[in-house]
Amino acid sequence: MDPERIDEVTARTWVDVDLGAIARNIRALAKRLPEGCGVLMVVKADAYGHGLEPVAQTAAAAGAWGFGVAALDEAARLRAAGIRGPIVCAMPLLPVEAERALALSVIPAITSLDQALGFDAVARGAGRSFEAHLDIDTGLGRTGVWDRDAIELMERMAKLPGLDITGIFTHFSSADEADRGPTERQLDRFESVLAELAARGVRVDCVHAANSAAALRFARASRFAAGGAGIRVLVRPGIALYGAAGEIAPDTDGGSWRTGEGAIPFEHALSWHARVIAVKDLQPGDPVSYHGRYVARGPERIAVLGVGYADGWPLALSNRGHVLLRGALTPIRGAVCMDLTMVDATPFPDLHPGEVATLIGTQDGKRRSAEDVAGEAGEIAYSILTRIGPRVRRRAMEVEQ
Ligand SMILES: Cc1ncc(COP(=O)(O)O)c(C=O)c1O
Repeated sequence: MDPERIDEVTARTWVDVDLGAIARNIRALAKRLPEGCGVLMVVKADAYGHGLEPVAQTAAAAGAWGFGVAALDEAARLRAAGIRGPIVCAMPLLPVEAERALALSVIPAITSLDQALGFDAVARGAGRSFEAHLDIDTGLGRTGVWDRDAIELMERMAKLPGLDITGIFTHFSSADEADRGPTERQLDRFESVLAELAARGVRVDCVHAANSAAALRFARASRFAAGGAGIRVLVRPGIALYGAAGEIAPDTDGGSWRTGEGAIPFEHALSWHARVIAVKDLQPGDPVSYHGRYVARGPERIAVLGVGYADGWPLALSNRGHVLLRGALTPIRGAVCMDLTMVDATPFPDLHPGEVATLIGTQDGKRRSAEDVAGEAGEIAYSILTRIGPRVRRRAMEVEQ
């Protein structure tokens, strides 16, 4: 990709997605997992802002077992893009969505008996059976049936002919934090449910629990022995496969999956750029942007970038964030606007419209990550990436063979 070539897509702001990086990240993680452990890649929110269809097609070719989504529209896009494998909707569906889920062969999360009864009725009405996964809350305090109620629900569901519970899962609250205690306790609870089900002869095809941090930091989370022979263990990572997991705290032994011994070299897959669309000189006292929150202290110069909060570029970066311009870390001046962001161009007297600023990514060997932007905006890499708006066109780079 040549950033100097200005076309319709790259005229103002765009994202480049390195699909090769995603394929390599999946293979690198898979190599670390126990034999037979599959990757259920989380591609909700437009594949964390990277573009759903090309990411999923790349991941399927790289060996992903299936995909995790949060909404049926995402599943429909995957099916339209030719994804045939399992799609798990890990967020509860409403009764009104059941028929569509069945038509799309989506595996819904079961989070209550009422929901199970509803899915059973819809499936029987259609002369089919609904493949579903039971969501067990082992301590996140969000969706799912509490672990203490899971056995009873499982036994009730076993009697519903329209429902085929093929998997069981849980989700961790704090696997990325230095304190390993909460995750160990969630693992204990999940394993006891699995052991109890196995003791009662209740069989499922697969179990999954580990988000990126758990897959990288807790070996237990990808080796559930209690499931028994023939039961496939899956991991359910998102952020690490996009290469943006810098917030995962190092292990208590001082190592880290990124920098410690045996670190996995996850590659950042996304870069985000915006062009300089105007340049302006300032005299001392001249204001910059709404409400004049920046005022020139001397003869200065600003570059106006064609990106704003309507593109998902955080308003909170006003007067405090940075971008890369000519390889230098360059401060944002004044308020970020809906479509524009002003940055300091004083060091570059010959800067001209058409030059590229990098918001996330590498420029002349200097790097800004989504984690860096998140740090300045008071957010997390997840919220920065998933909020990059539909106006920002994604250019997918070919996968290296
Ligand atoms: C239910 C569920 N599973 C897995 C993930 C993936 O988490 P991560 O991106 O931290 O790997 C998420 C992300 O929010 C999730 O909600």
